[in-house]
Amino acid sequence: MRTPLFVANWKMNQTATEADGFFRTFPGSLRDVVPARAHVALAPQAIQLAQAAAALKGTSVGVAAQNCGQTAWGAYTGENSPVALHALGVQWVILGHSERRWVYHEDSHLIQARMKAALEAGLAPILCVGERLVDRKEGKTFTVLEEQLAILKGVVEGALDRFVLAYEPVWAIGTGETASPQQAQEAHAFIRQWMHDRFAAAASESIRILYGGSAKPDNAAALMAQKDVDGLLVGGASLNPMAFAELVRNGVRSQA
Ligand code: PGA
Repeated sequence: MRTPLFVANWKMNQTATEADGFFRTFPGSLRDVVPARAHVALAPQAIQLAQAAAALKGTSVGVAAQNCGQTAWGAYTGENSPVALHALGVQWVILGHSERRWVYHEDSHLIQARMKAALEAGLAPILCVGERLVDRKEGKTFTVLEEQLAILKGVVEGALDRFVLAYEPVWAIGTGETASPQQAQEAHAFIRQWMHDRFAAAASESIRILYGGSAKPDNAAALMAQKDVDGLLVGGASLNPMAFAELVRNGVRSQA
């Protein structure tokens, strides 16, 4: 049984004051659900990670970073050390998000280095993969997923229990156009089979594969009802504590 995981990806949003209000009210609103029936993490901007770690300490809600540096330390202006993130109390780190791949041109080589550094620092990576609309139209969805997953080979062998994958079709992110539950399930099943063929069968069964791309309170249940959808990575709908709590609740309910 895979415990569902819901991650709020705030991207470049929320002031410190807005974040503070969220941190104070949100954990209490899900006390009956988290951590018994689901895991939840918030990924604020890097400038609010210390604030998040302090405010959420002792609650069941975890803290995730939106990215991390590709080595433990060094001359990398603008980056955040995975060791420093871990020391702060950050547990998870989103890596390879499509906005990092397409807006900031992060390639597989760099994402793999970030992943290695994250694992060495004790963080749990959430690796995002997903095709663009043009790839889907050309029938290349699975080829793209395979290419993006290839960076796992030889890197995560001993750490799969800490690892999370997220299927995020680029055409569904921030567009309001959610993948249908069937489209999500098809991609998730492909990813799990890919993991099964390359790693121990048990690891492929236990790894959590999240869906991301216009997940909302009203489509969370249908997505989570899919056999291989183990959680949601949520952008826009995670900025409001009440909407995100409702989304988690609806998603968990469909697991019963
Ligand atoms: P969205 O973003 O929910 O706003 O589509 C999801 C993501 O980019 O992780």
